[in-house]
Amino acid sequence: MKKFAVIGILLLSAMLIMQACVEHTANPDDTYDFQTPPYFPKIVSPTNNPLTKSGVSLGRMLFYDPILSQDSTISCSSCHNIANAFAEDKRYSVGVGGATGDINAMAIINLAWQQKFFWNGRATSLEEQALGPINNPLEMHETSENVAAKLSRSKRYAPLFKQAFGSANVTPEMIGKAISQFERIIVSNQSTYDKFYEIQEQAFTAEEYAGFRIFFTERGQCFHCHGANGTLLAHNLDTIFRNNGLLTDQEMIGKGLSFVTKKTTDDGKFKVPTLRNIELTGPYMHDGRFATLAELMDFYSSGIKQNANLDINFTKSPERLEQYGGLGLTSIEKQQVIAFLKTLTDTAFTHNPAYQNPFKK
Ligand code: HEC
Ligand code: HEC
Repeated sequence: MKKFAVIGILLLSAMLIMQACVEHTANPDDTYDFQTPPYFPKIVSPTNNPLTKSGVSLGRMLFYDPILSQDSTISCSSCHNIANAFAEDKRYSVGVGGATGDINAMAIINLAWQQKFFWNGRATSLEEQALGPINNPLEMHETSENVAAKLSRSKRYAPLFKQAFGSANVTPEMIGKAISQFERIIVSNQSTYDKFYEIQEQAFTAEEYAGFRIFFTERGQCFHCHGANGTLLAHNLDTIFRNNGLLTDQEMIGKGLSFVTKKTTDDGKFKVPTLRNIELTGPYMHDGRFATLAELMDFYSSGIKQNANLDINFTKSPERLEQYGGLGLTSIEKQQVIAFLKTLTDTAFTHNPAYQNPFKK
């Protein structure tokens, strides 16, 4: 009997705690009204981190605040610059104390629709991803526990965490949740391409339209990997990691998805990034090897490395690959694709007041 009484009390207290959490997050005045474009796919929102006004606003402050780094010199925005659609115009980022890695910073665009993060996919949620750079010695060189302690002591932040998550005793989990909420509301859908997509063909010039045709047909192959329903221009939702022939058999060992899965068949498979705002996010590829879209188009046209894991969309026309070393596009076709890619530039996005540095007056 005694045993049951203990279990009963445990259950009751668990229910009370859950109730308290539910009551906190369910404050209707604090619900963030996230309007997603009607022609985008449906989002799978995490149930354990619903968007709230207080959470999004706190996440935005944290994103722009160097308090997250060891010596208070580096914020997320140091490497994810809004003018570059939250990517960076340098090949490699510089972290605390001048440390550099050999990986190009990724853009933060429409991540609410994505499930795998980093070029090799090693983070499976934004909540988890956000703590990565804080703990990375090449980036913010801190520990998330330290940052949590700093924020709990902060007169500015403690009350904001209390408001957003019900406690001023900040945990790394709360930091990850707040930053992810801000990242989820970062949406780009006001480019020329969007006007075109919503059935206004006249939104494109003849050159842009020709590039669009190459992109979405077998001539260019691009849509097989970057299509995603024609709207996200990121990886297709089923196939996220692809080998696009950037590396040789030797160079690709242990790089890309195989870093996570340890399978040699995943060597050289990288996350297919979004092409939205691509004009603003160069240099290009995981190692930032191409400074311009012209160099990148030369690669797809004649520079593809025929490694063992090269994607079927390139190997299915072996004669073309053999003859040209790639898609064999003419210089006019390359220009047309670039013109099309530039229709994805969204200046309403880079000027959106909701995404700007909240500390700048
Ligand atoms: C020193 C530069 C630097 C700092 C600081 C930095 N990042 Fe990054 N970020 C990168 C690089 C480089 C990558 C790609 C890393 C990789 O794939 O291994 C990346 C990748 C990401 C991604 C993955 C995007 C995707 O499509 O998969 C997100 C999200 C992100 N960063 C958010 C943040 C947040 C939030 C912060 C602050 C807590 C932050 N970053 C701080 C350089 C930085
Ligand atoms: C087989 C799949 C596949 C095809 C086909 C493909 N891509 Fe890619 N693309 C990728 C992958 C994977 C990456 C990232 C590779 C890396 O960084 O290692 C990428 C990267 C890019 C980037 C750089 C993105 C950035 O943020 O640095 C651009 C631009 C791009 N592709 C455009 C195109 C165009 C245009 C076409 C058609 C001519 C095309 N891609 C065809 C898979 C593909």
